Amino acid sequence: MSNPSNNVLPLGRLSAKGAISGKSVSSSSPFILEARNVVKRYGSVTALAGADLELRHGEILGVIGDNGAGKSSLIRAVSGALVPDSGEIFIDGAPVKFHNPMNARQYGIETVYQNLAVAPGLSIVENLFLARERRLKGIRGALLRTLDRTAMNSFAKEKMQALGISTLQDIHQPVETLSGGQRQAVAVARAIAFGSRIVILDEPTAALGVRESRQVLDLIKKIRDDRNLSNPDQPRYAACL
Ligand SMILES: Nc1ncnc2c1ncn2[C@@H]1O[C@H](COP(=O)(O)OP(=O)(O)O)[C@@H](O)[C@H]1O
Ligand SMILES: [Mg+2]
Repeated sequence: MSNPSNNVLPLGRLSAKGAISGKSVSSSSPFILEARNVVKRYGSVTALAGADLELRHGEILGVIGDNGAGKSSLIRAVSGALVPDSGEIFIDGAPVKFHNPMNARQYGIETVYQNLAVAPGLSIVENLFLARERRLKGIRGALLRTLDRTAMNSFAKEKMQALGISTLQDIHQPVETLSGGQRQAVAVARAIAFGSRIVILDEPTAALGVRESRQVLDLIKKIRDDRNLSNPDQPRYAACL
């Protein structure tokens, strides 16, 4: 990524340097996600003055910049939460236009936003399925919209176990009773549980202590490395901002 005009600097391809991932990514492997020359202005404020981003298969990419440098704006542009004034976004080399986050989700991009990661009053399983609830088959689901709680519970348990989030024992626990790191783990689990290919996290450790930050970073590595979380043929990729 380059954006000299507003001080967003690449932290480096962390997977290549081994700082987070401990694994290198071939520089010849194709880009799964690219942003080119993205411009976003809010009135007189230029948040992004021609930002680039390149994410390769199997890579964990970190981006750093001062407060106000444009990190969240870039994330929102590649996750469909804002429409840039100009610039291009490519998935697997093909140009795409996102008008909303659902468009990006259709391409397997899931985002954990900075401040909206989880709904505190809801349980872990309710958070996992927020806006994606499963209904019972047949007339009860179709007409009465009755939730298939048994299926949702077993899916949630399976995902939590696969992710190794062993401290979260009770999936019916309200998220507000969890620690910051555990809440972030629920947000990450939600982002990857439904077959995403690219997970984007906006400052996932900003509110966490050293130990909890380490746990979240370990979780991100696990997602990248564990191809069996949902679909063995679909490796996962993470952009960590
Ligand atoms: N919705 C908005 N309306 C007006 N200005 C905004 C808005 N969102 C971000 N900005 C401005 O754009 C710049 C980049 O912000 P942001 O992308 O949030 O940076 P970062 O995430 O790096 O802190 C800042 O100057 C910020 O004040
Ligand atoms: Mg931000």
